[in-house]
Amino acid sequence: MNIGMVIHTGGGHTLKFAQAIRDKLVASGHEVDLTGLRTVGTVTTGMLSISRVNFTIKNPPELDDFDFVLAGGPVWGFKASPVIMRYLVEDVQKLKGKRALSFVTMLGLGGGRALRMMNEELEAAGAEVLEGEALPYFIKPNAVKLAAAVERICERVCGGHI
Ligand SMILES: Cc1cc2nc3c(=O)[nH]c(=O)nc-3n(C[C@H](O)[C@H](O)[C@H](O)COP(=O)(O)O)c2cc1C
Repeated sequence: MNIGMVIHTGGGHTLKFAQAIRDKLVASGHEVDLTGLRTVGTVTTGMLSISRVNFTIKNPPELDDFDFVLAGGPVWGFKASPVIMRYLVEDVQKLKGKRALSFVTMLGLGGGRALRMMNEELEAAGAEVLEGEALPYFIKPNAVKLAAAVERICERVCGGHI
């Protein structure tokens, strides 16, 4: 399959998770294109609330060519990252006939809500959305949890198709 991954990462945790997912999918024979969203402007938030978000996304990828789309980002203020949400709301409209899945990294709280927020937008664009993953990540991820989350994602993505 041709798989598109689009992420926002502030400090690199979500990128590490995404790279592990990508490497596993590539090893299973898939083509994977991973884009990290870049922004211009201010994306400043507090732990409890988004305080200043005044940015544009410089490199929103087109998803037309992909069979499967994975969206990822950190949990900020118990919500999905405002950058991945802006991309999903404004740039992603046509996912009919595609499957999709979300993943987030976090210290430990708000992962379920963040995944729901992202999934709602993927569904609104017409995708068939599969169960996502929220990975606790404090300085380093727990290697066993990371490997297990990557494995579950790859099983869902492959779902019988190689
Ligand atoms: C502004 C801000 C808000 C955050 N809010 C939460 C939160 O509500 N819940 C949580 O578990 N972690 C929270 N975190 C921690 C991040 O979700 C976590 O460190 C994540 O792995 C960062 O991913 P990244 O390095 O890809 O940006 C917050 C971090 C920042 C910078």
